[in-house]
Amino acid sequence: MAGVGSYLPEKVMTNDDLSKIVETSGEWIVQRTGIKRRHIAAEGEYTSDLATAAAQRALQNSGLGPADIDVVILATSTPDNTFPATAVTVQHRLGIHHGFAFDVQAVCSGFVYAMTIADSLIRAGSADTVLVIGAETFSRILDWTDRSTCVLFGDGAGAAVLRAQPVVDGEPEQGILSCHLRSDGVHKDKLYVDGGPSSTQTTGHLRMQGREVFKHAVGMISGVVTDAFAATGTTPDDLAWFIPHQANRRIIEASAEKLGIDMDKVVMTVEGHGNTSAASIPLALDVAVKDGRVKRGDLVMLEAMGGGFTWGSVLLRW
Ligand code: UT7
Repeated sequence: MAGVGSYLPEKVMTNDDLSKIVETSGEWIVQRTGIKRRHIAAEGEYTSDLATAAAQRALQNSGLGPADIDVVILATSTPDNTFPATAVTVQHRLGIHHGFAFDVQAVCSGFVYAMTIADSLIRAGSADTVLVIGAETFSRILDWTDRSTCVLFGDGAGAAVLRAQPVVDGEPEQGILSCHLRSDGVHKDKLYVDGGPSSTQTTGHLRMQGREVFKHAVGMISGVVTDAFAATGTTPDDLAWFIPHQANRRIIEASAEKLGIDMDKVVMTVEGHGNTSAASIPLALDVAVKDGRVKRGDLVMLEAMGGGFTWGSVLLRW
């Protein structure tokens, strides 16, 4: 893990702002989700803009430059266009003209999917240095008349630079230690966008059976986190930090409790970011690295669950 960076659009939308648009209250939103504010991209500000800004900060924090990057992987469900991949735009904007770039679409689990692919490319010797980004403009696919969904999401981007590093005899392995990904399309109608190029030829809007998603979330999250502990011979006590996908405070608290992870070890940013889908984990990781919580050598568990359903965990040593 060479470094991380993130970017949030300037405009902040509070729960009070939302209560002027739909029949809701700050009290309901905070009590049910823990969200107080979210950032919203400006008109003309695209996912590629957010992703490029986050990537530039991650590169700077890594002490690396565009010439060092072999692969750009962008996790997003809100690409600038149907094609080309938004990753290619970001690659170009960063001034990278070698290697390759592509998008990963796994909704809220996009970042753990992208990290898993990056780890595989590095372990296979296909790449030395990979830029992994999660970037979203969910404000563009929300139905702003649907109070059950529009209060939950926000825009943002986070990025991480992964670099090959030999394992040194007698020292603990650094970087990604385990990856566990899952999906099950039987749940695809519980969280989806009701449009697309092949079906409606429109972009569509996000639709969610919130209670149904909630019902499955804790079990699925606990499953892949338990798999990570089992595969690496580690326990919740070994963890320095638990950095979950930031969808809902109650889901995070219930997952931590079920897993036996102390709440003092949980990084929580949902209050100020809302659910930024694939961007939420790298945004939270960047916050915790910047404020000094995550230190070199720390064992850090990432996990996410979202549309598909998709879910997964990544255990890493920072
Ligand atoms: O990123 C991964 C995917 N997303 C998630 O993880 C989200 C998972 N789901 C959730 O976080 C929760 O289910 C929600 C936060 C979406 C909803 O919380 P809930 O406790 O499951 O509430 P509910 O859907 O059961 O709705 C309770 C009530 C309903 O009214 P009635 O039928 O009880 O009269 C809703 O109509 O709350 C009402 N409601 C609202 N009231 C005020 C729904 N949205 C709102 C709102 N403001 N914004």
